[in-house]
Amino acid sequence: MKISFSKPQLPESGVVVVSVLEGGKLTPSAAALDKQLKGAIGRAIKAAPRFKGKKDQSLTLLAPGGSKLDHVLVVGLGKGDEIDATRLQGLGGQIYAELGTRGHATVEVAVDAIEGCAMTAPDMAAEVAFGARLRSYRFDKYLTKEEKDDKPSLKSLRILTPDAAKTKGRFEGLNAIADGVFLTRDLVSEPANVLYPATLADQAKTLTELGIDVEVLGKAQLEKLGMGALLGVAQGSVREPRVVVMRWQGLPNGAGKGKAAKDAEPIAFIGKGVTFDTGGISIKPAGGMEDMKWDMGGAGVVIGLMKALAGRGAKVNVVGIIGLVENMPSGSAQRPGDIVKSMSGQTIEVLNTDAEGRLVLADVLWYCKDRFKPRLMVDLATLTGAIIIALGEELAGLFSNNDELAQRLFAAGEAVGERVWRMPLDDEYDKMLKSDAADVKNISGGRSAGSITAAQFLQRFVDGTPWAHLDIAGVTWGKKDKPTVPKGGTAFGVRLLDRFVADFYEKK
Ligand code: BES
Ligand code: MN
Ligand code: ZN
Repeated sequence: MKISFSKPQLPESGVVVVSVLEGGKLTPSAAALDKQLKGAIGRAIKAAPRFKGKKDQSLTLLAPGGSKLDHVLVVGLGKGDEIDATRLQGLGGQIYAELGTRGHATVEVAVDAIEGCAMTAPDMAAEVAFGARLRSYRFDKYLTKEEKDDKPSLKSLRILTPDAAKTKGRFEGLNAIADGVFLTRDLVSEPANVLYPATLADQAKTLTELGIDVEVLGKAQLEKLGMGALLGVAQGSVREPRVVVMRWQGLPNGAGKGKAAKDAEPIAFIGKGVTFDTGGISIKPAGGMEDMKWDMGGAGVVIGLMKALAGRGAKVNVVGIIGLVENMPSGSAQRPGDIVKSMSGQTIEVLNTDAEGRLVLADVLWYCKDRFKPRLMVDLATLTGAIIIALGEELAGLFSNNDELAQRLFAAGEAVGERVWRMPLDDEYDKMLKSDAADVKNISGGRSAGSITAAQFLQRFVDGTPWAHLDIAGVTWGKKDKPTVPKGGTAFGVRLLDRFVADFYEKK
């Protein structure tokens, strides 16, 4: 879908969207259109007693008499002082959902400055466009026989706004974020016969086009580094593992002296990239196992985030590292009871081969802190089913050894509508991982506090680095459409971490 911005000149034909504030007050564009239509909008509002201009409400006028317009959509904005970026993105998404598949190729949306709203008109218009684009995502590359009438028809969305040039500028950064979100959604949607460690690494490689430095470590290198925990997971699959290191150096050369040197230390994002999780020898039940194609969701978010940051030229040094393996049962697979040696030197008793994500992350976290000495590390992982029991599909679990970092992630999540909830870490939970045979075991044994013990396990491999872990098992795949997130891969985390970087770590 092409998105463009132009002067607020209402069209005389085609499809147009105008808005109304809660209580029924028409925005200037809606009033102008109402006049052009000889009061038809006012009459339509009167004829629909429950339409109050509240958010999420809408009203349709088809082929209003005396005009050549096909479709007028009147959307509710809610109260003027409650309009914010999230609301406007939702509005854009709602507009796309209403008009994207009705057979129209072009839609024009008037976005006016609103009294009482803290945002400027260009910011408002850019957010509406962003929301519409986010909602327009569709993974349809394998639908070879789809009827034309089932495909989206909307090709061009024109936003009518007082300062089109400025709006275009505002939209560029948001559009780069949307590009990152779309890449992540594509990756989590791909089936595991197509996307496996080597091909996922190839996808990461494409980021070099944007100025990101991408390094792919193969099995031999991982062996040399001593990543016994990650390799133990990978050994049951014919698909060899990879670790991919992506570096975006958004700070100019020379930011490496004195105080600036500290600022140049990267912040690090680490992703679990299990391209398929059968559970291994501790095999999962058949029902729903197909979901485990998106067990690389954390890695997908890190790749999409790097794309977003580079795409909008973020002034920050970031390293993204993903651990890619396939967890399969086979004659060469790891067995319950096996003891592996991690890169950190700690030995791990693998009591359940389905608790594999933490084994992969143990080595990647250690490698990251060892090689890059980052200011902080944030990992993302579809790590536990238990987080879905705790938080459902709305919020992600947040665990951290650092209150400031936790607070910042929470704030960024609230700001973009990708919300997180902090869960505890505590020595008492750590004790549950004590093994009789090795330094640590990979499950606690009981059914209680499953997400916390998983996080405690990870904490043993961060060596005191400020670190946060986002358990995204519940939020990576959506079963129903949301305003800016169609069902399927959500890319939860890309917008959150982009905002986290922008608000707290970028040189302004
Ligand atoms: N990838 C799963 C977690 C998961 C479950 C993600 C459902 C998305 C949806 C993870 O590797 C796993 O299998 N975890 C086990 C841990 C258990 C064996 C301690 C779990 O949650 O059951
Ligand atoms: Mn598993
Ligand atoms: Zn898994």
